Amino acid sequence: MITLYLNRQIADDRRRESLFSGDFYLYTGLPGAAALVKHAENLIAETFGDLDPERAQFEMGVDEFITRVGPLKSEFTNGQRTKELCQQFAVDFGVDPDRTYFDIPRLRVIPAENYLTAGVSYNYKAHRDMWYGHPQQLVNYWVPVFPVVGDNVMSMYTDFFDKPVKNGSNQYDYDEWVAKHRHAAAEKTTTDDRPHPLPLEEIDSRGEIRIAGGAGDVMMFSSNHLHASAPNLSGVTRFSYDLRTINIDDVRAGRGPRNVDSGATGTTLGDFLRVSDLAPLKADEFADAVAAAQ
Ligand SMILES: [Fe+2]
Repeated sequence: MITLYLNRQIADDRRRESLFSGDFYLYTGLPGAAALVKHAENLIAETFGDLDPERAQFEMGVDEFITRVGPLKSEFTNGQRTKELCQQFAVDFGVDPDRTYFDIPRLRVIPAENYLTAGVSYNYKAHRDMWYGHPQQLVNYWVPVFPVVGDNVMSMYTDFFDKPVKNGSNQYDYDEWVAKHRHAAAEKTTTDDRPHPLPLEEIDSRGEIRIAGGAGDVMMFSSNHLHASAPNLSGVTRFSYDLRTINIDDVRAGRGPRNVDSGATGTTLGDFLRVSDLAPLKADEFADAVAAAQ
């Protein structure tokens, strides 16, 4: 059984335990999440000027869209202001700021229809984040910048939380991805031939759910859930941001959902920053724990 909790007040240790068993936590009205939305909105407004950003795709060619969206995504992900806002975002959830680390957030820009589904607007096929080298202990936060509907959010395949799926993650190495492929996104305008770890079987899921909220509403879930970008049939571009946290005690103790099917190598741990002071995580110290989990 999986439970969706709305605005549940609970200690972070207990919530992670619950998340690691597949539960979802939905939160509304958090100031840190709203501040990141505002920051994203400002950058989006700079990017599209007077155009309505949700409909700007219909006013320009794909090449121009990519030229504008590439720097937007990069500024949101790498800007110092974003990192500071992530600290507040995490603290609102009651995490221990000295034991919790976050991965810099990503801004997703998913145009409607088949305008662009590769590169900077890659539509993720069904995956677990672990197939991309993330640790089992990962907690994911997904937040719309503008209100969303079922036709432009993520599909969550809840019945696959602990059921294996044939997939290509044993060909995926995180270090190789960073070195060779991550920065090639902007060149991918029609097909995305980067070696994404893909499902190798049809996902036939009666347990698919889509959770759609307003701007700044947070969906929190274990990244062990199989999930995908739903094809955007909403008629407008979807803007959302997502970030991830880990608690280092979980990593050290090997807590988290069972690895049911990921064969990825390498680890993203070295990308994580401490909530309290933005110090990078020293991934070398966790090499044994990571090796034990893979
Ligand atoms: Fe994901």
